[in-house]
Amino acid sequence: MSLVVVTARALLWHGLPTVPPGPTEGLLTFLTLHHVGGDADNGRRLFFYKQELSCLRCHKVNGEGGEVGPEMKGIGTRQKRDYLLESIVDPNKQIAKGYDSVLLVLNNGQTRTGVLKGEDAKEIRLMTAEGKLVTVAKDEVDERHPGKSAMPEDVIKKLSKSELRDLVEFLAGLKEKQ
Ligand code: HEC
Repeated sequence: MSLVVVTARALLWHGLPTVPPGPTEGLLTFLTLHHVGGDADNGRRLFFYKQELSCLRCHKVNGEGGEVGPEMKGIGTRQKRDYLLESIVDPNKQIAKGYDSVLLVLNNGQTRTGVLKGEDAKEIRLMTAEGKLVTVAKDEVDERHPGKSAMPEDVIKKLSKSELRDLVEFLAGLKEKQ
């Protein structure tokens, strides 16, 4: 690898400003126009290794990774780029099927929140954002509300626009094998 490439890589990792916080509408429009042509290899690196993002902690890619969110294998076949982009920028806009979150207020005043994994007459099973399975007895539950996406809303603040574009390029390229 030449020095130029190495320097460019270093700049890509450290040198770019992150996306400013605030309303995402304008950002979405900007990105929708510019989100083609990212660097999928860099996107893969971000997804697998960038600690602050920890995509892999919650998502599997071909079986490797966490279980809080959906498996990414084949997502480029199932979803369009706009959807992929929106899922990262604004996770609460659409919740992936089977990954609804619930917020439970218990009768001891504590709360539990996580992705709803199952329930029967007696108990509710959740997976927390840390990937822990939690079982709550229904007779301990005072209130039950729909929760926010278990995917963090602030991921976007840890990404530059070009990193975001690279991530979308990477995900869009995860095609289902024929
Ligand atoms: C703390 C766990 C967590 C982290 C970290 C996380 N996600 Fe997610 N993600 C989820 C959950 C849960 C869902 C499903 C709920 C939803 O749609 O918001 C989801 C949904 C998605 C979807 C939509 C999937 C579909 O099948 O519809 C995409 C794309 C995605 N995440 C990409 C990413 C990327 C890229 C990163 C890293 C920048 C990331 N996620 C980090 C938990 C996480």
